[in-house]
Amino acid sequence: VASIVPQAPEDPLFGLMAAYKADTSPQKVDLGIGAYRGDDAKPWVLPVVKKADDLIRSDPELNHEYAPIAGLAPLTSASQKLMLGGDSPAIKENRVTSLQTVSGTGAVHLGALFLSKFYRTVYPSTAIYVSNPTWANHAQIITNVHLPVATYPYWSPKTRGLDIDGMLSALESAPARSVILLHVCAHNPTGVDPTQEQWKQIAEVMKRKAHFPFFDCAYQGFASGDLARDAWAVRYFVDLGFELVIAQSFAKNFGLYGQRAGAFHYVSAPAAEAQDTTKRVASQLAILQRSEISNPPIYGARIVAKVLNDPGLFAEWEENLREMSGRIISMRNALRGKLEELGTPGTWNHVTDQIGMFSFTGLNEKQVGLLRSEAHIYMTKNGRISMAGLNTKNVEYVARAIDKVVRA
Ligand code: LMR
Repeated sequence: VASIVPQAPEDPLFGLMAAYKADTSPQKVDLGIGAYRGDDAKPWVLPVVKKADDLIRSDPELNHEYAPIAGLAPLTSASQKLMLGGDSPAIKENRVTSLQTVSGTGAVHLGALFLSKFYRTVYPSTAIYVSNPTWANHAQIITNVHLPVATYPYWSPKTRGLDIDGMLSALESAPARSVILLHVCAHNPTGVDPTQEQWKQIAEVMKRKAHFPFFDCAYQGFASGDLARDAWAVRYFVDLGFELVIAQSFAKNFGLYGQRAGAFHYVSAPAAEAQDTTKRVASQLAILQRSEISNPPIYGARIVAKVLNDPGLFAEWEENLREMSGRIISMRNALRGKLEELGTPGTWNHVTDQIGMFSFTGLNEKQVGLLRSEAHIYMTKNGRISMAGLNTKNVEYVARAIDKVVRA
């Protein structure tokens, strides 16, 4: 078989990470992968994660048995509440079923697999609509389970903001009952989120067209620093009675990237038989999970569960989240400030208007290439920068380098 296997391109993000590592320049700056760094440019173990980890390790009963197929119950029940709110009618009415997954990627995959197996039986021509642009991995996760991918406009290069009219008209003209993938907050790669008013417009079209919402939530707490506010869109759609699914990652908001902790939630629409529907869905999701990963990894999930279920640790976690989102906001201000100080051609307000881990700078592929070859600054080809790669020591260097390539 090997003779017919073509060479695949390297993953753009992990390829970038490897190129950065191999660069020996002392000035190099990593603005590539979306992973938080402290002001010292180093990965940050959240103090609350360290504390929970110590508590777990000191338990004499600790063992390494299998988790149940659906994962650790303290994790799945607490992550439902985190996502939907403790007083969610969907939780009270037993309309939610949740499985622990291999982080957000595993949750997106499980959701796509489930829809490919069941939703497509009833609506065979269904495609999953993703924003243009979206997270680089979405399309291949979806096509791997043989679902067609379509796109809706999202980013307006002109305003460097949301193309709400383009988005609404694409949702309007998509065939009824399409699956629409939506980023809950801190949109990757643009850093541009709909306002609450715009979410209402999106929900209105989706309800009328009976579209199926598929939420991807990788940055709760990272956008505004407020967990409930960042989950507002999902809770609003649930209140409107949508049947929907959610992929939830704990990579970024707990700094548990390599631990692969996440969850997948299915919420059924309010109806007399909703509880029964949810049970049947849960039984099928369990089979899909068992056949793919058997049961999910336990370590990171234990840490998340410990923090989410302990009010004291939870409050500390919120503090840690505010520290991360606060440092990112201060870097947005610093970068914009330096560029404006230098009189760099163009406008730079989008750097502070955008939210979450990334800024979609508007730099083109040529400029990105020059930044890498001349200044050892690494970012994705589409001009996305991970704001957490900036710090008080390198922000001026980066601003000067951007200024130079913009003028070139
Ligand atoms: C990113 O977009 O940089 C992150 O979500 C990392 C990843 O897995 O792609």
